Amino acid sequence: MSMDPIARKSGIDGAWRGLTILMMSVLSFMYLLGESVPIVSAGPEYITSLREDVRQMFHHAYDNYMTYAFPHDELKPLSRSYTDSLGELGNLKLEHLSETYNGTALTLIDSLTSLAIIGNSSEFEKSVIWLGENLSFDLDVRVNLFECNIRVLGGLVSAHMLALDSKKGLMRSGYEGQLLRLAEDLGRRLLPAFNTPTGIPYAWVNLKHGIRENETPETSTSGCGSLILEMGALSRLTGNPEYEVAAMQALRKLWSMRTPLNLVGTTLNVITGQWIEYSSGIGAGVDSFYEYLIKAYILFGEDEYWTMFQDAYTAVQQHYRQGPWYRDADIRTGGPTHRQLTSLQAFWPGLQVLVGDVAAANETHRQFVQVWEKYGVIPERYLFDREIVHPTERYYPLRPELAESTFFLYQATKDPWYLRVGEVLVNSLNIYTRVAGGFASVRDVMTMELEDHQHSFFLSETCKYLYLLFDDSFLKGGNYVFTTEGHPLPVLRAWQQWLPPSKCSPNQEMKRESKDNALDFRICPNLQWKGCRNCSRRVESACHVLDNQAGHRCKLDADCGVDAVSCRRRSCSASGYCGTWP
Ligand SMILES: *[C@@H]1O[C@H](CO)[C@@H](O)[C@H](O)[C@H]1NC(C)=O
Ligand SMILES: *[C@@H]1O[C@H](CO)[C@@H](O)[C@H](O)[C@H]1NC(C)=O
Ligand SMILES: *[C@@H]1O[C@H](CO)[C@@H](O)[C@H](O)[C@H]1NC(C)=O
Ligand SMILES: *[C@@H]1O[C@H](CO)[C@@H](O)[C@H](O)[C@H]1NC(C)=O
Repeated sequence: MSMDPIARKSGIDGAWRGLTILMMSVLSFMYLLGESVPIVSAGPEYITSLREDVRQMFHHAYDNYMTYAFPHDELKPLSRSYTDSLGELGNLKLEHLSETYNGTALTLIDSLTSLAIIGNSSEFEKSVIWLGENLSFDLDVRVNLFECNIRVLGGLVSAHMLALDSKKGLMRSGYEGQLLRLAEDLGRRLLPAFNTPTGIPYAWVNLKHGIRENETPETSTSGCGSLILEMGALSRLTGNPEYEVAAMQALRKLWSMRTPLNLVGTTLNVITGQWIEYSSGIGAGVDSFYEYLIKAYILFGEDEYWTMFQDAYTAVQQHYRQGPWYRDADIRTGGPTHRQLTSLQAFWPGLQVLVGDVAAANETHRQFVQVWEKYGVIPERYLFDREIVHPTERYYPLRPELAESTFFLYQATKDPWYLRVGEVLVNSLNIYTRVAGGFASVRDVMTMELEDHQHSFFLSETCKYLYLLFDDSFLKGGNYVFTTEGHPLPVLRAWQQWLPPSKCSPNQEMKRESKDNALDFRICPNLQWKGCRNCSRRVESACHVLDNQAGHRCKLDADCGVDAVSCRRRSCSASGYCGTWP
């Protein structure tokens, strides 16, 4: 590690650090925005060298974890030690921690599918064997259901499906299904959380003892509404429907709590089924609820998810969208509450690509990239109306969402501009967050002071999406949806009630079936659905956003919505009407 030039660079003292940061910001800013910079660079060598940079980043994070932290949960990269953080995730007040819990190799589990994607089958196989022999979930530890589901259960279920795929050649000495056995054991330990009057699960469950007496009834919308991919996959793989039924019923109940505006709050009470926090948006506390509706539709093909998603998505575009930004609003009135970008919102453009709203995704993504460039990384909160970082939430914990959206947009457009965004992200991460002992979170984007924590999602998502941006060969020959922790789940015909493409005309269907990945399950615009089979009603494009006023009257372009068919922004004509003008 001491031979590592980049690590040395980031070990420099404060003054130099500040200067480097300043220079980097200026350079990357000029580089990205200077359209005069020729794009010689999008050739194969440029892309391969960036891919190798990302592989190196992953190994730097992974090897340090294995050396200093494994089999504990996460690496502390500054002190080169470990933290058993599974019981602490989402637990801001650090309540009810276990005194005997010594970790479940969280970062290793979260890294398995990244090892598969970067093509390190020997390390994948070694890890699977170790986990099968050593891991047990019979532990007295209170975990956050959502975090445990997306990181641990999702990591195991997804790696199991990849291990089974003989074309991937990951388990040379044979695979005995040990990851699925672990996943099923864990799934069984999570089920007691669903035993509530509403069927909406508690946020917390003890892996050995179930639900504590007087457990808090408060949970978040994303916490109880983003379980269906992992639980559904577990049910399909084991033949035990309990997991999928529990997650599905929770989702149905949650959706039934929406306001007449089709908006959902941020936190709720699982006993009474009442909202606690009415100010909501697409960021923290809600984000992956939307993501799982559309992804459940892609994975399981059930109409119900599409119907929920379409109403939910349209409501977001109507009530939260403000130009390219998304504000928070009161779910009862739609009245704005906060005008801020939160870094979790950066997943939204990626979701929009899945539903075909590429133009809208591009517009929002560009704004978010500008915020990244302004600070060098993206701050947790940024007040977009005042163009300043939030007074207290100034951290950047190595989050993946901007890399994720960049990957999706590149897949959809193949515009090399997104590769250059990827390069900026890679360079920033190496300059500001790489230390000799791994990658460290940023405590304050204004000073770039670091924090002693390398989150497991840096390996499962940030590195993975950057790698896939520069090398998507993993996606060839299979359809995948990525869970909210970045774990790929193959889209299987056998799991589909019917495949979404069967809703399109036979011609489109044939074209679609020849495509490679789940990004191609974009929604067919309304007009092209004449050959529609098996569908009781015509489904309109998910991108439709109504004009602000009846009769399509407007004063400004901002008063106009998005055309349902073309997904194009409507603009205001000289005579005061919204339309898609040529
Ligand atoms: C965790 O480690 C501590 C200290 O080594 C040990 O006393 C404890 O028994 C361990 N807990 C479990 C569940 O093995
Ligand atoms: C796989 O990972 C291990 C551990 O980081 C490393 O030693 C090995 O060189 C890697 N193999 C390949 C092919 O990258
Ligand atoms: C973990 O598994 C290895 C074999 O892969 C074994 O040698 C080791 O003793 C096991 N460790 C524990 C703590 O059980
Ligand atoms: C994205 O936005 C840029 C700048 O407005 C534009 O030049 C580009 O064509 C857009 N790409 C897509 C796919 O909409």
